[in-house]
Amino acid sequence: MKRNTTFKYHEDPEALHIGTLEPHAYFIPFAKNQNPFDKRENSDFFELLDGEWGFRYFDSLIDLEKNFLSIKPSHTIPVPSNWQLLGYNGTNDLDVPQYTNIAYPIPFDPPFVPDDNPVGIYSRDYNHTPDGRDRIMTFEGVDSCLYLFINNDFVGYTQVSHSTSEFDITPFLSSGNNTITVVVLKWCDGTYLEDQDKIRLSGIFRSVYIISRAKKRVHDYHIITELSQDLKTAVIKVNVTADCEYEVQFNGEPGEEFTINNPILWNAENPHLYKLTIETEDEIIGEKIGIRKIEIRDGVILINNTAVKFRGVNRHDSYADTGYVAGYERLEGDITLMKQHNINAVRTSHYPSAPQFYELCDEYGLYVISEADLESHGCVDAHYTFTCDQSDYAGIALLAKDPMFNKAIIDRQERMVKDFINRPSIMFWSLGNEAGHGPNMVDAYNYIEAQDNSRLIHYQSLHKLDDTPDIFDFVSGMYWSPQSIKDFANNESENRPFMLCEYCHAMGNSPGDLEDYHEAFHSSDRLCGGFIWEWCDHALIQGTAENGKIKYGYGGDFGERHNDGNFCMDGLLYPDKTPHTGLLEAKQVFRPVRVSKQDDGKFPFTSYLHFTDAGEVLDCAYEITDGGEVIHRGEIEFSVEPFKSVEISVMEKDEGEYIRFIFTAKHDTLWCKKGYYIGHEQIKLSNRNYATVSNDSGGKINLTEKDLEFIITTNETTYIFNRRKAQINSINHKKIELLDKPLEFNFFRAPVDNDHMKNDWYRLHLHDYDIKVYETKAEIENNRVIVTVSQSFGWNKYRPFVRMDVHYIFYNNGRIEIAGKAGFTDKVTFLPRFGIRLFVPKSFSQVMYLGYGPFESYIDKHQAAHFGKFECDIAEMHEDYIKPQENSSHFGCKYMQITSDEVTLRFETDKDFSFNASEYTQEELAEKKHNYELEKCESNVICIDYHMAGVGSAACGPALDAKYRVPLPDIEFKFVIIMT
Ligand code: GAL
Ligand code: MG
Repeated sequence: MKRNTTFKYHEDPEALHIGTLEPHAYFIPFAKNQNPFDKRENSDFFELLDGEWGFRYFDSLIDLEKNFLSIKPSHTIPVPSNWQLLGYNGTNDLDVPQYTNIAYPIPFDPPFVPDDNPVGIYSRDYNHTPDGRDRIMTFEGVDSCLYLFINNDFVGYTQVSHSTSEFDITPFLSSGNNTITVVVLKWCDGTYLEDQDKIRLSGIFRSVYIISRAKKRVHDYHIITELSQDLKTAVIKVNVTADCEYEVQFNGEPGEEFTINNPILWNAENPHLYKLTIETEDEIIGEKIGIRKIEIRDGVILINNTAVKFRGVNRHDSYADTGYVAGYERLEGDITLMKQHNINAVRTSHYPSAPQFYELCDEYGLYVISEADLESHGCVDAHYTFTCDQSDYAGIALLAKDPMFNKAIIDRQERMVKDFINRPSIMFWSLGNEAGHGPNMVDAYNYIEAQDNSRLIHYQSLHKLDDTPDIFDFVSGMYWSPQSIKDFANNESENRPFMLCEYCHAMGNSPGDLEDYHEAFHSSDRLCGGFIWEWCDHALIQGTAENGKIKYGYGGDFGERHNDGNFCMDGLLYPDKTPHTGLLEAKQVFRPVRVSKQDDGKFPFTSYLHFTDAGEVLDCAYEITDGGEVIHRGEIEFSVEPFKSVEISVMEKDEGEYIRFIFTAKHDTLWCKKGYYIGHEQIKLSNRNYATVSNDSGGKINLTEKDLEFIITTNETTYIFNRRKAQINSINHKKIELLDKPLEFNFFRAPVDNDHMKNDWYRLHLHDYDIKVYETKAEIENNRVIVTVSQSFGWNKYRPFVRMDVHYIFYNNGRIEIAGKAGFTDKVTFLPRFGIRLFVPKSFSQVMYLGYGPFESYIDKHQAAHFGKFECDIAEMHEDYIKPQENSSHFGCKYMQITSDEVTLRFETDKDFSFNASEYTQEELAEKKHNYELEKCESNVICIDYHMAGVGSAACGPALDAKYRVPLPDIEFKFVIIMT
């Protein structure tokens, strides 16, 4: 086969960029009469090429015609976009979106890529009127590489999907109409360095534009801000690279070095930016400067001399409708949402974001870890043989050690650092993610350090079996447990700071351990916080289902060869960017003020802000409640300095059950309006008893004993107790049947994504058991019928997983108590729940409870919720995870009731309990792969859980902490059902 010789660079890791300009700081010049701080679209020198382009698609580069430049396109495509989302999926669907996490999507054969390398040919006209200025064509993101042609000429080649590439196309342009042709390939040697855990898509996915530049001009500039130890004096130095005269101005003063006394510093809470301009004869450039510093002192990461806690998230470019494509509004939307949820930091996992993202972080105030476009996680698989011991994870470093990729790995650092060196929000450069350690990474580190020593360098992917020295100034980990990070801080042989670059894997109904991490982070200044994995679910819209729900597809839904299922659905946001309850939880854990209570009735307010008096930015109101009813409201003026506490007296007299402080924004900001909810604190003031008493109504009660049934009748109610299964089969109350199915014990929940023990549950058949009844007897005593049962639950192969002795006490006034003891075998090491389940008629739909709401709440995930009395329709109680799973439990309940027009069913236990009221069965939630496939049950399903396990974050994190598990092996329990 004879190959087209133009296309020779994408399998050559020495030839990374052909015909491109040197990387430099991102800026857009304006005409002298313009405001250089305006939107870039308004610059006279900026010409956006986004829009419809001509498009042709080929399954393989080999199919490309020799004269492809002269063939008119048959289709059009919007730029930016990902072609797979517009129906270009290749013959036999070989080019569908593919979700793969670790495994490479191509055979591991560097630097070669498959011959069937899909191609998108983008073309458009460009009208040029020569005016003595140069035309710089700029691509901000193209996956995976591109060959650029103007008219019939080859202009150049470039790669690194998430980086800006510029071509000076002036020499190639003729006056009048020109044709720009961009040949984009799906794979190139860079693919081996872009093995990030994401849906793999191709094409021009960020903006394309042409900047018109004076021939003699400013090429680059580097702004260095030096801050004195006492923060009182800042020196701004501007190093300009230009081949013309220029003038730098700051505060109306010209110069190249400026001293500011008592500067207003930049930080995430108050992102103050100064303005500077650089003018030449023809152009003016506006630059915003933030004055701040980051350093490590005595093992602590300090920003502006303050020990910092990062309350961060990891963000990918991922949108359900547009794939990788995010315009300015969407970037701003993401950042606004982060700020609204008390997030103060973001890691651009695992590649640089678009330039405008960093500018927005400067403006809104977010600390940034800017990560190079680098991950070679698939080396782990590539390195293994099929039989070898898979514990040798050090195979991840195959490319980090391979001289063939040395240049390419450093190139990825260079393109990031040079582009974004002036962005004040960037606190860390990150060498990449999961690429192992080796000489190439050492060189990458040294490269960055030589360019910029004003920031810290982050890297996590060091592995025990790796012999490359650990050269990093701080330690970064992933998914360590709260205890292990505390141990790190207490380990005297290690004096570096520690960061969790990923934690609290937010997959599905998750994370359940945020508060524990908060507590751990605050146990030592050496622990600087972390970045939740991750910001948003990755999914793609696949149409609308018959029931009107949007069909969100994840791994396996696109017909991929290899896929990693729903492991990409692990964000704090649903794919449409509405918050999961996990994000609400994070917001609350990250609240800027916490309140506690002292014995003398005072309430210490403690600030978790770093730089701002909390009273200057927050209003505080409070309400005192009893039984969920508000009995008193008020407002509080307060002032509390960063990380300090002040005592506030609130109450004149002892009253109420709970007090809840509610913090809202005091002023309008970029990201919220005055009054916007920021967080709350609820404190118990006194104990109340909500248990109803089992009064004897004086009415009659009768017991009829049959071989297979006990029939119990009272004035208004008839119960049928099935002796064979030891279950209440029927409750007929006020002539209405309350049970659509026998009342049953429940040991199973639809696994949440973190329930990695679920295979044990299925093996034991917790979800579908057989009942063995050893004995049932009934007697009447004090106007009550007491049914005593001895029984066990199990299935084939193993011993019954639980044995129980249970008393059912039927009162003469519509009250049942179910009390007993359960003893589980040692095969049951993790029980999702212990409770009873009732299938009630659909007419029972109005739910009321006193417990943690209105959001779903669990033993380890109820920070965002509060204790109160909530009423709702059962139809509103479902939390619609894209991959269905256990949801909408309510923790810490005193009682719960569900009502039809005629009857109310109230539930209690002898302690606080959880309940779940749903239109769906746990079996349905466990079985269906997507929310749009869910079918409602013919009954409403009520689960009263004496214990409900926490949700944790074990899908990619520590196992659920013992304190959040159902206590085993023995459970003594009591459920109460009252019908009125
Ligand atoms: C980490 C990785 C992330 C993501 C996560 C699991 O190891 O850095 O990119 O794959 O695991 O969701
Ligand atoms: Mg990975």
